[in-house]
Amino acid sequence: MTFESLCTRDFLPGDDPDPYGAHILPVYQTSTFVYESPEKIMDVFRGKGKAYVYSRWANPTVDAVERKIAALEAYGLKKDGKELPLKALLFSSGMAAISALFMAALKPGEKILTSGNIYGTTVELLNTLMHSHGIESVYRDLSDKSAVESALEEDAMIRMIYCESPSNPTVQIYDLSMLSELAQRYGATLAVDNTFSSPYLQQPFRWGADYVVHSTTKYLNGHGTALGGILLSTDAGFMEEKAWKMRKILGGNSNALEAWLLNNGLKTLPLRMEKHCSNAALLALFLESHRAVEKVHYAGLESHPAYSLAKKQMRLPGGVLSFELKGGLRAGIRFMKHIRFCTLTSTLGTPDTLITHPASMTHVSVPKAQRLAHGIGDGLIRMSVGIENADDIKNDLERALAAI
Ligand SMILES: Cc1ncc(COP(=O)(O)O)c(C=O)c1O
Repeated sequence: MTFESLCTRDFLPGDDPDPYGAHILPVYQTSTFVYESPEKIMDVFRGKGKAYVYSRWANPTVDAVERKIAALEAYGLKKDGKELPLKALLFSSGMAAISALFMAALKPGEKILTSGNIYGTTVELLNTLMHSHGIESVYRDLSDKSAVESALEEDAMIRMIYCESPSNPTVQIYDLSMLSELAQRYGATLAVDNTFSSPYLQQPFRWGADYVVHSTTKYLNGHGTALGGILLSTDAGFMEEKAWKMRKILGGNSNALEAWLLNNGLKTLPLRMEKHCSNAALLALFLESHRAVEKVHYAGLESHPAYSLAKKQMRLPGGVLSFELKGGLRAGIRFMKHIRFCTLTSTLGTPDTLITHPASMTHVSVPKAQRLAHGIGDGLIRMSVGIENADDIKNDLERALAAI
């Protein structure tokens, strides 16, 4: 079955049929499950048998969506001649999945090597909670091979490289096979936040990743209707013991209704991603030629430093782009004031086009020097390009650009 068809199915090949013959995945909206017999449940509590017990542990709707996302991330990939054996765990949010990954995979004293331009709350997690649990972070430019290698060489306690590719908001692309080879050579692992790509555009396991996380809140759900996060790995022991236990104990599980909403979004993932990407490519070209724009960051443009890398690693370069306006902060604020069609908000991956001006919105409390160090200039605008008619988006941008 092709990737596109897999997305449309509620029951995958090999799944048990629904006992009532339901066509669409049922929402098992129940907190607990009835015990078949004292003996059977005793085995389950002892970890010897499997049955649904309590929805914080596992739930049939959530399980079905985990299996589907695992099938999409593993699509077409093989290990020892067999389908890549991926396990997935769904969480209440992307942050719940990311924190479970760090807490389950690393011990106090061990370190994470990452770049500064990852999602702000992930940086906050690393610098506060993980730091107080004795897990420190080392920040380097992950596109610089020698900087990555010397960090790993100098510090044997680095056990994980963590990156987002494309990253936020300057859509930097990292060479995943270079990072996974270095991680392997130095006894570390590679974890990739694949939120900006979705498995339709990029499969990090193809390039040697050990762990993948997503904020499913974004492209996977695709409609802005539910928060969620997913953690995937081929290490069954890690997933079934450590990561599952982390979810069970800390209670960061997803729930049946939100998993079901996510599943509905997955059905149109390929169609949506194609349109997000074709619209983004058109708008990137339009913006690149506009006299009010200093620079456009989009890996589909030949001017982008990672143009060839994105071509190798991704099916298409994604639906998020950013651009720097001439005229800095004042231009950024004026531009935002004249936007009428696009929506001013900070999430991404919904059908409508979303625009943020980090310097006056999401990053207003970040010191300017720190912002600039990560390429977030005063006039930087980030767009999550939607699936509307591209002319409507272009006309809105044209009007707002003329107003500055
Ligand atoms: C790349 C990336 N990773 C993780 C997260 C966190 O996900 P959530 O908001 O679902 O907790 C976000 C949220 O915007 C994100 O953009």
